[in-house]
Amino acid sequence: MRTPVIAGNWKMNLLRDDAVALARDVASALDGSTGVEVVVCPVFTVLSSVAEAFAGGSVEVGGQNCYGVESGAFTGEISPQMLRDAGCAWTIIGHSERRQIFNESDALLNKKLHFALASGLKVMFCIGETLEERESGAMNDVLRRQVIEGLKGLDDTDFTRVVLAYEPVWAIGTGVTATPEQAEEAHAFTRELVAEAFGGTVAADLRIQYGGSVKPDNAAELLAKENVDGALVGGAALQADSFAAIVKAAR
Ligand code: 13P
Repeated sequence: MRTPVIAGNWKMNLLRDDAVALARDVASALDGSTGVEVVVCPVFTVLSSVAEAFAGGSVEVGGQNCYGVESGAFTGEISPQMLRDAGCAWTIIGHSERRQIFNESDALLNKKLHFALASGLKVMFCIGETLEERESGAMNDVLRRQVIEGLKGLDDTDFTRVVLAYEPVWAIGTGVTATPEQAEEAHAFTRELVAEAFGGTVAADLRIQYGGSVKPDNAAELLAKENVDGALVGGAALQADSFAAIVKAAR
């Protein structure tokens, strides 16, 4: 049995007062939730405040990105050590917005993944194809490259702290969700790739979240699929009631 992970990616939204208010509302809406891991990823500037708001409860806090070096002359970057210092247990790595807007390569993401794990963080590592790649029939090759290059060199112990997030780029922020069947197909294929490269046990235990326009009214049918082990939620995570409804759907 894989425990589902529901994570809220707040992206570049919310100033401190609103972020803390949302965290408090999420904490009270989820009071008593069991059987599901919940993570919230706010912007760097409010991490400590949000971590404080969740202190003593079961919700964990994560960064949305981090660099592959502990400290030094890397203007504008942040290290896993700094995320931990701000109260994070997790980080997202390889979100499609990082891959597309900031040109992050598979090799860079692999380096960041290794360093985040070595620094004691748990990682949600994102993969997913664009609409163009899907329509041209390149989806499987893209997923293969992202899995093989992105996860290169991880051992069985590393995998206990990695969650994959399948986020088809065409479904992010568009209101167009993958159908449960499309999600299941991509998740099953991804699990096969992991099995081929890293072994059947790692693949069977690995949790794969779906992300892309997850809402309270489509979460249950997505999460009911055999290979869908959670969700990475953008827009719907910015409201406590809709995020809590998605968490409840995962239980
Ligand atoms: P939306 O839920 O807003 O489509 O965003 C998904 C996402 O990118 C989560 O990381």
